[in-house]
Amino acid sequence: MKQVIKSIYLKPGKERAIINRHPWLFSGAVLKKDANINAGDEVLIHDHQGHELALGHWCGNDGLVCRIMTFDVNLGLNEDFFNDRFNKARALRHALLSQQKTNGYRLIHGEGDGLSGLVCDIFAETASIQLSNPGLKKVLSIFCDFLVRHVNIKNIHLTDAASGESSWLLGHNNNTPFLENSLSFVADIDNGQKTGHFLDQRDNRQSVKEWAQHRDVLDSFCYSGGFSVYALAGGARTVTSVDIAEKAISSCQQNVRANGFDAGHHAVVADCFSYLRQIKKDDFDLIILDPPAFAKSSQAVERAARGYKDINLLAMKAIRSGGVLFTFSCSQHIDDDLFQKIIFAAAKDAGREVKIVKKLTQGVDHPVSVYCPQSHYLKGLALYVE
Ligand SMILES: C[S@@+](CC[C@H](N)C(=O)[O-])C[C@H]1O[C@@H](n2cnc3c(N)ncnc32)[C@H](O)[C@@H]1O
Repeated sequence: MKQVIKSIYLKPGKERAIINRHPWLFSGAVLKKDANINAGDEVLIHDHQGHELALGHWCGNDGLVCRIMTFDVNLGLNEDFFNDRFNKARALRHALLSQQKTNGYRLIHGEGDGLSGLVCDIFAETASIQLSNPGLKKVLSIFCDFLVRHVNIKNIHLTDAASGESSWLLGHNNNTPFLENSLSFVADIDNGQKTGHFLDQRDNRQSVKEWAQHRDVLDSFCYSGGFSVYALAGGARTVTSVDIAEKAISSCQQNVRANGFDAGHHAVVADCFSYLRQIKKDDFDLIILDPPAFAKSSQAVERAARGYKDINLLAMKAIRSGGVLFTFSCSQHIDDDLFQKIIFAAAKDAGREVKIVKKLTQGVDHPVSVYCPQSHYLKGLALYVE
């Protein structure tokens, strides 16, 4: 028997995205719904003729109103259902990551793991969860049980994305040490950004390590110095790490020291737009640009594009001949095509010969659902500048 008690009906034509297995439903698609549907309630989605299409969680009455959990309406959103999703997510990481060298990884990547609105990063024995689906609050005890039993987790931290509130659900281990490709890091879970560390850049940091030898590296928007540590491990001559947040810079210094790489490292608290403007030509021959998402909405794309172009132009003008520029955008609203156009415009204005030598993206533990292109959010290019 189905557990669902509440129903929603879509406007004619609006069922297409659901038939194509996209897990998001927006308010404009809803024709009518049962009375008294509250955020977090399970809902059965129908087309306008009453055909059952999917099961999901109601999120509220504006914008993204429903996160779909399954397109098989015969399934119940029960303990077995969620344990199956958690197990599949764990199996993917188990298959693709070497846990001897890396015990910091993303266990659940929302839509990429069929769990829209749930992110869970693992730092050794500590889990850092970000929840943006109110319906999954009811599932938290099942998830915590899974983490303890099957992932050997001893501490669990939860941040509710809607309210911003956070708390420890199990144990307490704020400054959590963990390994990334054998390098040591500490995740500041209580006070850091996102879940405490940007795990999505792990594979790209490895590329930086491979090309860093004898180079003078600028890690701009460095946060806790992920790229800086890898560059130093790769034999960089000097590394300069710049971030606007004082706390980020002190975490960066701590991570650099923990790996024994203090010599040759300079840490600077500064606005990267100003910093990039005042660097001298040829100061650096490897530059990393990993800014925060400049486009938080589709309306902000134009302004964001100007921001990306500005920093890339400044870096391209300054970088030494034969230098490598690692440039990223984590804005969901800037797609690969637009990002490449921005880079083209910056290169043209800089008057430099610029070659794409590697296309970069998020790590394998951040899988992209083919049905939800938005789960691919991190775009990057490694550019050789002549
Ligand atoms: C996406 S994170 C960088 C992650 C980092 N590269 C890593 O691998 O962990 C963006 C960083 O940019 C910093 N930031 C934001 N605006 C900035 C600005 N105008 N100048 C310098 N840093 C800035 C934030 O404090 C944050 O640490």
